[in-house]
Amino acid sequence: MKKLSDELIDRLVAAAESVRERAHAPYSRFAVGSAILDGDGEIHLGCNVENASYGLSVCAERHAVGAAVAAASNQLVAIAVVADTTPPTSPCGACRQVLAEFGDMPVILANLNGERTLTSVARLLPEAFGPEVLERHDESLSTDTK
Ligand code: THU
Repeated sequence: MKKLSDELIDRLVAAAESVRERAHAPYSRFAVGSAILDGDGEIHLGCNVENASYGLSVCAERHAVGAAVAAASNQLVAIAVVADTTPPTSPCGACRQVLAEFGDMPVILANLNGERTLTSVARLLPEAFGPEVLERHDESLSTDTK
């Protein structure tokens, strides 16, 4: 896992704070912004997008993951999440699982008052179910449906 410089952390938090302003959150009024740093040093953004059919709302973190994947990012290096809470908000369970798909990475949680918490995907979701589990899968034990 990459050790992030203070300058990089500042850039990621600023990017997440800025995209948070574009959140579509008319139902919860809880705006979240997220920024992902990839292996080429590019930053990909996401904000939460809610829906009148509430269950279809998508979190900022998952939108940032989608933006990174759509931009052909080779590796997700770190993610920042910004919301207006004290202490800073941490990702929901679904987003933790989606992040774990891309391996362990630093997670910076920040709010609008300059508070920051540094954690990681592995700390937020220990013993995650990930792609390596599927690789360990013993096909001889699976039911033959052919
Ligand atoms: N939300 C996020 O986008 N990220 C989080 O880490 C927590 C929750 C969104 C989902 C919903 O649009 C609103 O915040 C309230 O739950």
